[in-house]
Amino acid sequence: MLEASHPTAAVTIPPGTDAAPPPENRVLKKRIAVPLARRSPDDKQASTPTQAKATVHNLDFWYGKKHALKNLNLTVAERRVTALIGPSGCGKSTFLRCFNRMHDLQIGTRYQGRIMLQPDNVNLVSRDMQPIEARMRIGMVFQRPNPFPKSIFDNVAYGLRLRGMRKHSEIEESVEHALRSAALWEETKDRLQESALALSGGQMQRLCIARGLVTKPEILLFDEPTSALDPLATAKVEELISTLRDEVTVLIVTHNMQQAARVSDYTAFMFLGELVEFGDTSQIFTNPQQKATEDYITGRYG
Ligand SMILES: Nc1ncnc2c1ncn2[C@@H]1O[C@H](COP(=O)(O)OP(=O)(O)OP(=O)(O)O)[C@@H](O)[C@H]1O
Ligand SMILES: [Mg+2]
Repeated sequence: MLEASHPTAAVTIPPGTDAAPPPENRVLKKRIAVPLARRSPDDKQASTPTQAKATVHNLDFWYGKKHALKNLNLTVAERRVTALIGPSGCGKSTFLRCFNRMHDLQIGTRYQGRIMLQPDNVNLVSRDMQPIEARMRIGMVFQRPNPFPKSIFDNVAYGLRLRGMRKHSEIEESVEHALRSAALWEETKDRLQESALALSGGQMQRLCIARGLVTKPEILLFDEPTSALDPLATAKVEELISTLRDEVTVLIVTHNMQQAARVSDYTAFMFLGELVEFGDTSQIFTNPQQKATEDYITGRYG
């Protein structure tokens, strides 16, 4: 079995981890020709130790007899972006969907192990946790934008009303805040009552992000959020995800190595249902410890 290296519960981001790749990593440097410098050395946040938002312990998952996740262990750092990468079918989406208990909608699925959500220290995959509660606490943005056939305003307000918020001024304030956080306010503030279906694909995806953010989720999950978008819309959503770490903990699945390098603080490489390697994004892309990781990020397979 492949050993996964992973940080322990309290994660400290050393300042200046975005140094250029060492010269011996010429192949990687050439392949991942994108700046890893999301955090400058004087960025306050970069030197701030972060806490664990969730810790995954010995997580296994089955679709019927199919053993899709095998003994996963990792820490999701609070208010940071963690990327999940790996070849098609390795279990990235399966792993993501454990957090909001999406699998409970399918008969014959089974979890084993723990995903401990902090600071409450509750196990998201235990029988005692109602799937609906997990979904209330953990938001998700899907591959294809999926706005409701409602107005822009009502799309974002939906989750608030579902949670019992009735006061219009409060709803308005929260909707505006979420649209601003999703970098969509300026484009929509004069057309909030128009149908969300009239937005462009990129705008719809940012609307879905606003809809996810408005209820202040503890973790926001993204499953290939830009794969259906054009390069310009992709750039906007990526930029947005990078800024979201001020508000929320992000776990993102992506097939795009450059995207993982650009937006994430930590990267986990999965292969055949196992977690092969996990670490600081700059380390994973410039100095992977496992050959399988290196082969994948240099495009030798996947
Ligand atoms: N609903 C399901 N029922 C049964 N098996 C499934 C189901 N969804 C996924 N699988 C299987 O579980 C394994 C992991 O699939 P998963 O969708 O998590 O991979 P992935 O890494 O997200 O792949 P991709 O990059 O193609 O999206 C695959 O072997 C897949 O065939
Ligand atoms: Mg997937």
